[in-house]
Amino acid sequence: MNINVIGAGYVGLVTASCFAHSGHKVKCYDIDLEKIDLLKKGKTNIYEPQLESLLKENLENNRLSFSDNLHDICTFSNIFFICVGTPPRGSGEANLLALYKSIFSISENTKNAFLIIKSTVPPGTCEELSAMIDSSKNISISMCPEFLREGSAVKDFLKPDRIVIGKNPDTSEDLFLTIFYPFIRENKCIIFMDTLSAELTKYASNSFLATKISFMNELSIYADLKGADIEKVRMGIGLDKRIGYEYLYPGLGFGGSCFPKDIRALIDNANDANLDLKLLKSVIEINDHQVDIFTKKITGYFESDDLSGLTFSIWGVSFKPNTDDIRFAPSIKLIKNLLNKGALVKAYDPKALDNLKETIQHKNLSFHDIAFDAAKDSNSLIIATEWKEFFNIDFEDLKTVLKNPVIFDGRNIYDPNLLSQKGFDYICIGRPTKINNMLEFSNPLNVVK
Ligand SMILES: NC(=O)c1ccc[n+]([C@@H]2O[C@H](COP(=O)([O-])OP(=O)(O)OC[C@H]3O[C@@H](n4cnc5c(N)ncnc54)[C@H](O)[C@@H]3O)[C@@H](O)[C@H]2O)c1
Repeated sequence: MNINVIGAGYVGLVTASCFAHSGHKVKCYDIDLEKIDLLKKGKTNIYEPQLESLLKENLENNRLSFSDNLHDICTFSNIFFICVGTPPRGSGEANLLALYKSIFSISENTKNAFLIIKSTVPPGTCEELSAMIDSSKNISISMCPEFLREGSAVKDFLKPDRIVIGKNPDTSEDLFLTIFYPFIRENKCIIFMDTLSAELTKYASNSFLATKISFMNELSIYADLKGADIEKVRMGIGLDKRIGYEYLYPGLGFGGSCFPKDIRALIDNANDANLDLKLLKSVIEINDHQVDIFTKKITGYFESDDLSGLTFSIWGVSFKPNTDDIRFAPSIKLIKNLLNKGALVKAYDPKALDNLKETIQHKNLSFHDIAFDAAKDSNSLIIATEWKEFFNIDFEDLKTVLKNPVIFDGRNIYDPNLLSQKGFDYICIGRPTKINNMLEFSNPLNVVK
C-alpha cells in the first residue's frame, strides 16, 4: 500500500520506517525543511536505537521517501497517519494547533481520504475534527493511539502488544487489517473500538503506568523514614502477576514528552467536564516533589542549603536510557536546583548532551563527552539516568578522580553494601544505608508533622 506519514519526529519517523520495512511504500512529510533535508540524506536529528539503519535501508530500496510538499503527498496516497506533536499549554491542556493545521491543510488538498491520528489527543478530538471538515470531501478520521516507548520504539512498533483502532464508522476494518497485518500476524492483537474510547485508552495507559511510578516513589519516602528497603519491596510485589515488575522502579520521577503532559491533559479535559481526577492530581504532585526531595538529600548531606564551592557530576540527563530526549527529564530540574544553590555542575550523557546544551546555558554548567571527565574533581557523583554503561564501573578508578567518594543515586542502580565496602558514602532512594539513616532529609517535604 502507499501510505503518508505526517510529522517526522520520534513517532512519525519510527512509523514511516517500520511501515516501509514491512513492504508498504511510504512518504513522510514534515514542515521542518532542515529535518526533511537531513532525512533525505539518511540522517536523523534524534537518537533511537535501530532507527537510522532502518531509515537508510528503506531509502535505498525506495520504499521510503521524504517530502515537504503537501501536493506531492496528497497525490501519492489517500491514507495519512498523523504524528505531529501535541505539547502541553501552560494550563496542562493539550495544544492541538499542529494537529488542526495538518488536518485542515490535508483536507483542503485532497478528498476521499483516510486520516488516522497517532498523536495523543484528548477524548472527543476526532469527533470534533470530523464535524469541522466539509462532508462533501468524504474524509474519515480514525484514531490509532501509539504505545511505542522511546529507547525501544522500533522494537515496540514491529512487535506491538496490541494495536488499538478507534474506527470511524464509515471506514472498514479491512483497511487497518491490511496495513497492520505484518505486525499482528502472530497474535492478531488488534482491537477495534469507537474513536472516543481509543483516545481515552491512550491517556488511560499512560496514566496507569505513571501511577505505578508515583506509587513506588511515595512508598520509597515511607521506606526512607522507617528504614525499610524499597528494592526488596519491589521484588516482593513485582512477582505477583497481578502487579508485575514493569514501571515499579522508584527514582527521580517520570519525565519525557508523554507521561507528564498526557496526565495533565487528561486532568484538564476531565475538569472541563466538571470532573476532578483526584488520583491523577496526586500522581503529578508526588512526581513534582521527587527531585526536590532528592535535592534535600544532597543539601542534607552537605549540611547547607548553599552549595557554592561544591562541584557535582551528573551522569545521565535523558529522561530515560537509550534516548536523547530530555523533554521534562527530571535531570533538568535537578541541574537547575543545584545551579540555583550556587553549585558547579559537570554533565555527562551518552546521547543527550547536545539537547542539554540547547536547553540550559549557565556559566556554572559544563558538558563532558566522557563520564570520568565529568566526575573529575567533583565533590560527588549523581546518577540521574540509568544508562547501562553506569552499572559496572570501576569504583577504584572513580575514587581516584572524585574529590570525595560520594554517590547520590537517583535510580538505585548500585548495591549499597558494595559501595560501603568500596569506601563510598552512598545516598539512594528508599533503601537503608548508613548514610541515609544519618541524614535530616528523612523528613521529606510532604511529611505531616
Ligand atoms: N515520543 C513518544 O514516545 C510518543 C509515544 C506515543 C505517542 N506520542 C505522541 O505522538 C505525537 C508526536 O510525538 P513525537 O514525540 O513524535 O513529537 P515530535 O515533536 O518528536 O515530532 C513532531 C513532528 O511534527 C512536525 N510537525 C509539526 N507541525 C506539523 C505540520 N503541520 N505538518 C507536518 N508536520 C508537522 C514537527 O516538525 C516534528 O517533526 C504526540 O502527540 C505524542 O504525545 C509520542
